[in-house]
Amino acid sequence: MRHLLEIDDLSVDELHRVLALAADLDPPQVLAGKGMALVFEKPSARTRNSMEMAVFQLGGHPVCIQAAEVGMDVRESVEDVTRTLASYHACIGARVFDHVTVERMAGQDVVPVVNMLSDAAHPLQALADVLTLTDELGGGSSETLAGRSIAYVGDGNNVFRSLALACGMLGVEVRFAGPPDYRLPAVDRDRLAAAGVLFTETDRVAEAVAGVDAVYTDVWTSMGQEAESARRHKDFEAFRVDEDLMEAAGPQALFLHCLPAHRGEEVTNGVVDGPASRVWPQAANRMHAARGLLAYLLGDGGAQ
Ligand code: CP
Ligand code: NVA
Repeated sequence: MRHLLEIDDLSVDELHRVLALAADLDPPQVLAGKGMALVFEKPSARTRNSMEMAVFQLGGHPVCIQAAEVGMDVRESVEDVTRTLASYHACIGARVFDHVTVERMAGQDVVPVVNMLSDAAHPLQALADVLTLTDELGGGSSETLAGRSIAYVGDGNNVFRSLALACGMLGVEVRFAGPPDYRLPAVDRDRLAAAGVLFTETDRVAEAVAGVDAVYTDVWTSMGQEAESARRHKDFEAFRVDEDLMEAAGPQALFLHCLPAHRGEEVTNGVVDGPASRVWPQAANRMHAARGLLAYLLGDGGAQ
């Protein structure tokens, strides 16, 4: 039984294969006559819509479920919800507060479980991000991304952890620029080092972005961290991606953001709407990436 809780649940070869499948506009109907349950403990625009459409394009039927409807660990246990949903669906996607929840779902080993964002990881976003880099810099082949570079500015969060792993798996250099208190924990740095990722961390943001192929940022306050918002605004004030920072990066640098953007906070309007921005193709790629992943997990990859 294959699950995708973090991007490195795929091998490097499998990541290349999923990215190739994402470009297949005549996808295998691996979900024909079947369903996929999509459980959300948090709001979503891109993830829900891209997953619903990916399931549809693979011949299946998506069923979206808000956490209160099934009452995970309230009405019944996460394990019992998982076994129930697996009685009707070929696959379960879940967006959760605590990463342990998707681990408990996958631990039932009844159908493949896909992490649609947890406090620790956002692998579907990372897939779309490297698909966007492949389109923009790799001439359509992820095999050619090695040697490229990306600078992530801001919070070392779920989006950054998955992005850094995905980029590193493809040989892309990863530079982090953020306040020292918001770096990835040592366990993640060890994981990146073990995967051979060329990875540096600094709080000197202009230095970090100089010469990179892409500058990436995400919100300063993730879903579930709202109580820390005031402190985070203060801590991240020097880490806004604005026109000056994009100029320090250089004219080759693209701008990426997983969205939703908090315009005027982590990024200015001039950058999101400016010539370097690729945030809309990046958002569109969420659907292609999701379709590629499900085609692999529910097709050939399921047997690996
Ligand atoms: N990027 C992303 O996951 O967007 P949503 O929260 O809208 O799904
Ligand atoms: N880091 C953000 C990403 C939203 C897509 C969050 O977890 O809220």
